[in-house]
Amino acid sequence: MTAQFPPDFVFGAATASYQIEGAVAEDGRRPSIWDTFSHTPGKVVADENGDIACDHYHRFGEDIELMRQLGLDSYRFSLAWPRIKPDDGPVNAAGLAFYDKLVDELLAAGIEPAATLYHWDLPQALEDRGGWRERSTAEQFAEYAAVAAEHLGDRVKRWITLNEPFCSSILGYSEGVHAPGVQEGEGALKAAHHLMLAHGLAAQRVRAAVPDAEVGITLNLASVQQVSDSQADADAARRSMLIDNLIFTEPVLKGTYPALAREVWAGITDFSWIQDCDLATAHQPLDFLGVNFYFPTRPKAVAHDEPDPAKRVASDLGTEQVIHEGEYLTEMGWPVDADAFTALFTWLRDEYGDALPPIYVTENGIACPDVVGPDGTVDDQDRIRYVGDHLAAVRSAMDQGVDIRGYYLWSLMDNFEWARGYQPRFGLVHVDYETQQRTPKASFGWYRDVIATHEVE
Ligand code: FCB
Repeated sequence: MTAQFPPDFVFGAATASYQIEGAVAEDGRRPSIWDTFSHTPGKVVADENGDIACDHYHRFGEDIELMRQLGLDSYRFSLAWPRIKPDDGPVNAAGLAFYDKLVDELLAAGIEPAATLYHWDLPQALEDRGGWRERSTAEQFAEYAAVAAEHLGDRVKRWITLNEPFCSSILGYSEGVHAPGVQEGEGALKAAHHLMLAHGLAAQRVRAAVPDAEVGITLNLASVQQVSDSQADADAARRSMLIDNLIFTEPVLKGTYPALAREVWAGITDFSWIQDCDLATAHQPLDFLGVNFYFPTRPKAVAHDEPDPAKRVASDLGTEQVIHEGEYLTEMGWPVDADAFTALFTWLRDEYGDALPPIYVTENGIACPDVVGPDGTVDDQDRIRYVGDHLAAVRSAMDQGVDIRGYYLWSLMDNFEWARGYQPRFGLVHVDYETQQRTPKASFGWYRDVIATHEVE
């Protein structure tokens, strides 16, 4: 069945600074927590790091030319905080100058810039003072957001405060699989809360600097599927919903926290560090909600890793993802279920009603074992199928009344996939990391046609 998208539907692609830029010590950039983490042996597969990545810092002209060939309406990228306010010191003009050039060339190519203020590269100097566990980091973030918005806001009108605060807090401070790579209870919950505060403060500052800005936040939300009728699995599904979705959607869209939070984490914190106005600050009017989605969440109840509730890390909720025997898994090991994407949108609509702003899909995509064939092409049919099915799922949600305005594919090009290094390839464009040669994959031509026709077969 053909899915047709409205003429003003935005088709885009997304990247993030640390994953593509390289040039980590150039023009006054200082280390972020991801430099430290990736240079710590054993943290990233094959001990890889983003020192060079796609060398986009020097090759952005070539990359924008690829975007132009693709016909992108909009390009979502992130600003590197450690380039703009390194070490939380004075503003670094050379860092801003890079984004000036990037934005100017995007506009000259007819591509609308969409800037994410925080895609995980916290200045290491701030982590050394406690990082997201501290309220002061949220305040510092607001200062940096104001600088960026004042400088670029005459040309950048779509602003995303944070990318996936779940990952910054829970993966970073509880599971320890992302920077800064620690495993904590209360610390991780504080990080999640201060990220919510940071979002609210930054949204205020961006609005003040750019009155005609569209301001939003990007959340990676789980489409939770209950795996059995047992009470234990029903409770596991509720706990997954809490940590994956509600501790972020409730403050942002309603200015509250779910009661379940106090029950689930009672052993590790009394929440006394939440101040009166914080939730009101986190609850800013939003022009859009950015939604990132990759795979369905199927939590079954299992024993907690740590039996003593007072010693648990925040993410130890006694749940485990169910993988069905023999099912197709992506290179990330993620199952695929496009209907779960539609279900996520209809859940948001049912749960939040009028409090739900319009949605942009700010990331969706798949890692495939892409190789350049003898004829020089990359035949990534699995990506074409995945993106086609997920775009059809978006269209189906729109048919059910969900207001979805655009779709940014992850990712424009293969890049540094965080703790997984360079092995998973998510790009429409293949990158040879030895030569930095870019090779558009079959999906590149396919997506170009989707953008041109606004139609998915
Ligand atoms: C998301 C991240 C993005 C990318 C994709 C695969 O969680 O926001 O940077 O790594 O996953």
